[in-house]
Amino acid sequence: MIFSYHRIPKDSASRDDLDEPQDEILKANSSLSYGEFHRRRPLLALSVSLFILLLCSIALNIHFIVSRPSDSTSGHSSSSVDPMWGGDLEPLYSPAQSAVRYERRVFNKLGIRTKFHGPPTDETDAAWESLYKIGTSWITQEQAALLPNHTDPIAGEEDRSVIVLDVFHQLHCLNNIRHALWPERYGVPKLAPPIIKGDTVLFDHVDHCINIIRESIVCHADITPNVWQWDEDRQVSFPHFDNLHTCRNWDAIMDWAKEHQMKHGWDVSIHVGHEQEHR
Ligand SMILES: *[C@@H]1O[C@H](CO)[C@@H](O)[C@H](O)[C@H]1NC(C)=O
Repeated sequence: MIFSYHRIPKDSASRDDLDEPQDEILKANSSLSYGEFHRRRPLLALSVSLFILLLCSIALNIHFIVSRPSDSTSGHSSSSVDPMWGGDLEPLYSPAQSAVRYERRVFNKLGIRTKFHGPPTDETDAAWESLYKIGTSWITQEQAALLPNHTDPIAGEEDRSVIVLDVFHQLHCLNNIRHALWPERYGVPKLAPPIIKGDTVLFDHVDHCINIIRESIVCHADITPNVWQWDEDRQVSFPHFDNLHTCRNWDAIMDWAKEHQMKHGWDVSIHVGHEQEHR
């Protein structure tokens, strides 16, 4: 997504705008957005229904990340070897790579309901937000120099830069799509002014979120085989999604994010000009 950082006074206590992107812009354009929404509503309804299946599947996948390994997996120990790193392509540096540990997890059984499932409540909201509320992280200039992409130093704190681990951005986006499915609770999603200069089409945040989750799923291409097993009650061979997966340990990633959490806002309107060396 486009993280729209508002201009924040340096002494402001904390920022929690991760899930409130472009709110001010959106409000200013709400009448335009509303009309646009209704014109494309049939299309939206179709896309939404087509996406419900995928969402169910994604929600299951998200849940496995935060749930403790079940008894059936506790016999498997975590490993610090990254299967990606055994491939023929050198993995790109991440400041959080030291936090990566592998373990095996069973995904949720089809039909079970977790705290992430169901019609939204304050409890489901809190559960979803706890996945990504940690937000942005600071890194040192030494770490920034190892990134394949430049990231600006923080104004007034030039020995540090800001990043957000994409997993948090993706979870934020998935929650944003979940919100769009419940307009009676969260309001009708609004369109924003075009992001790209000269573009005549309004920016659709939900559409953006669907796309980045698509990119991430395709990028990570989970090749865990889902299996078919005979179901005595139904008298059919039935597909299962509660299979054993190779996963990154979520707690270790969260620990890294807590240690490096950017706890205050920063002024994005100051151009900190010095160039970093990149590999
Ligand atoms: C990041 O680096 C890649 C590879 O050089 C480049 O294609 C891409 O445009 C860069 N993105 C940003 C935001 O710098």
